[in-house]
Amino acid sequence: MATNAMPRTLDSAAREALAERLRFYRDLGLMDFYRRDVEPLALDSQPEPASGALAAPETQLAEQVLAPASPLQSAPGAPEQLVNFYGEEDAIKTRKNFSVPAIGAVVPAEERATALQILRDEIGDCTRCPLHTGRNHLVFGDGSPTARLLFVGEGPGADEDAQGLPFVGRAGQLLNNMIAAMGLKREECYIANVVKCRPPGNRTPDPEEAHTCSPFLFRQIDVIRPQVLVALGATAATYLLGARQPLAGLRGRVHAFRGMSLIVTYHPAYLLRDPRQKKEAWADLQIAMKELGLQRPQAG
Ligand code: URA
Repeated sequence: MATNAMPRTLDSAAREALAERLRFYRDLGLMDFYRRDVEPLALDSQPEPASGALAAPETQLAEQVLAPASPLQSAPGAPEQLVNFYGEEDAIKTRKNFSVPAIGAVVPAEERATALQILRDEIGDCTRCPLHTGRNHLVFGDGSPTARLLFVGEGPGADEDAQGLPFVGRAGQLLNNMIAAMGLKREECYIANVVKCRPPGNRTPDPEEAHTCSPFLFRQIDVIRPQVLVALGATAATYLLGARQPLAGLRGRVHAFRGMSLIVTYHPAYLLRDPRQKKEAWADLQIAMKELGLQRPQAG
């Protein structure tokens, strides 16, 4: 709707500060945060540009900073959003009356399976990053849509790529044992990865690959809203917490994560290489159990 309000302009320092904040949110995959930043500038205080006129400076800035060159951006002629990050939110909203949860919002338990399926459909036969070229199966995630405990790994390995399921190889066997030691069944938890396609030779995902894929992980987490997340290894910890730090400094305590509790521990593949660290990992899992109100299962 056209208004007579004057366009809001920012001085160059404020523009750079906004751009920096938007880049930070984009890199974390936090779409909701930067929408809050940009939409008031675009919608509340700017006159509708006459057709052919340049968009207001802040809107242009947001578009430059936020819109990645992605096959998911709106097709020409499609109704435009002022800020369009990968286009997923717009597409998901049009289906089955499902609304993407805002941070802190709760998807009712009975709708979570559908919400995850919609997200899976959104990802489709993904070609958003180069990892798709070596993929046999995209590994979306596995487990209960109403899980109270959600594990995040790095990315699929060969076994996972072959089966389309996370943590089904040797590291997965160890993860299953860790879950059983907590007195839980694997199918009661949810398991996902930072990237959904196998990096060649099981290398660590590149930042670009992780930033492209992790918004989907964030959205899975926002649908399930487990009480506790466990980041398995440095890659999961880095992309969930948005800061690269040595694992040692992140383990052994509870981090606040979007209204949930996040615990960082060693990746099971690392524990297979250095079993002496299993004791430390068990200490981390006990922190998770405490957060969940779980007792250590009795032997026998
Ligand atoms: N390692 C991971 O990080 N994820 C898997 O799914 C399997 C192995």
